[in-house]
Amino acid sequence: MKTKDYINRITQGDCLEVMKSFDNECVDLVITSPPYDGLRNYNGYIFDFEGIVKELFRVTKQGGVVVWVIGDATINGSETGTSFKQALYFKEVGFNLHDTMIFKKTNPIPQIYRKRYNNQFEFMFVFSKGVVKTHNPIMVDCLHAGLKLNGTTYKNYSKNTQERNKMAKPVKDQKIKGNIWEYVVGKNKEDQEAKGHPAPFPCELAQDHILSWSNEGDLVLDPMCGSGTTCKMAKRLYRNYIGLDISKEYCQIAEERLKIENNFNLWTVVNHQQGVALAE
Ligand SMILES: C[S@@+](CC[C@H](N)C(=O)[O-])C[C@H]1O[C@@H](n2cnc3c(N)ncnc32)[C@H](O)[C@@H]1O
Repeated sequence: MKTKDYINRITQGDCLEVMKSFDNECVDLVITSPPYDGLRNYNGYIFDFEGIVKELFRVTKQGGVVVWVIGDATINGSETGTSFKQALYFKEVGFNLHDTMIFKKTNPIPQIYRKRYNNQFEFMFVFSKGVVKTHNPIMVDCLHAGLKLNGTTYKNYSKNTQERNKMAKPVKDQKIKGNIWEYVVGKNKEDQEAKGHPAPFPCELAQDHILSWSNEGDLVLDPMCGSGTTCKMAKRLYRNYIGLDISKEYCQIAEERLKIENNFNLWTVVNHQQGVALAE
């Protein structure tokens, strides 16, 4: 089978093996969350991290992006640091570490107090193959939109006597969103569709990355797609997708979710595009 045979389908298999049949540089965007630190054994499946990263580098287009969502387990009193080790390995293989983003959970799972604060985030490492080719930034309202600030006084300390005044412009209505993104986990209606899977990420998270790093008609890959969240949102946003997962059970959940996904959420894209227009 070739790349085209996997497009807009969920395929059961070891992603490393399946990706070997893909063409070089065929994927625009990868969004995935791998199993890590044996937190869940997903029926004991093997996970060849280094092999998968090399294959991702081969199949990603020049300028394409990989979003890798991962956290760290705490083992014997110490966080493992797996997330950092993996991020550095991506760099070794040739990816740029484009942005270290945070997925903040509004409703983190409460933890037993062990002299540390409750963990409420995972990393979303954004890797790129060369210079990022697509960025449609999400915009947010400025807190002080329209406010005319007073002149700011600058003092040049190397020439102790010199002073000058500069008038600041009024604060813009919108600005590019920061890189800490917050989501409610598992409570929204469409996230509930995934409840047969132990660790789905929120639909909104996938949506925001798809809008940010790809355009309509692009190819989005999730090599460990679990309940199919990335594929569902790619379909909604008129992207092509490839979903792979080693588990037959999770592939079935993903296929069911894709069947439900026949309505296009116009509101989201219109709002996003207005944001992009304002940024220009
Ligand atoms: C954290 S979950 C992904 C959840 C997904 N993001 C979602 O929203 O449902 C990791 C997935 O990796 C799959 N997996 C583990 N090893 C794999 C492999 N070698 N190839 C493909 N999938 C694999 C597991 O079955 C599991 O569904």
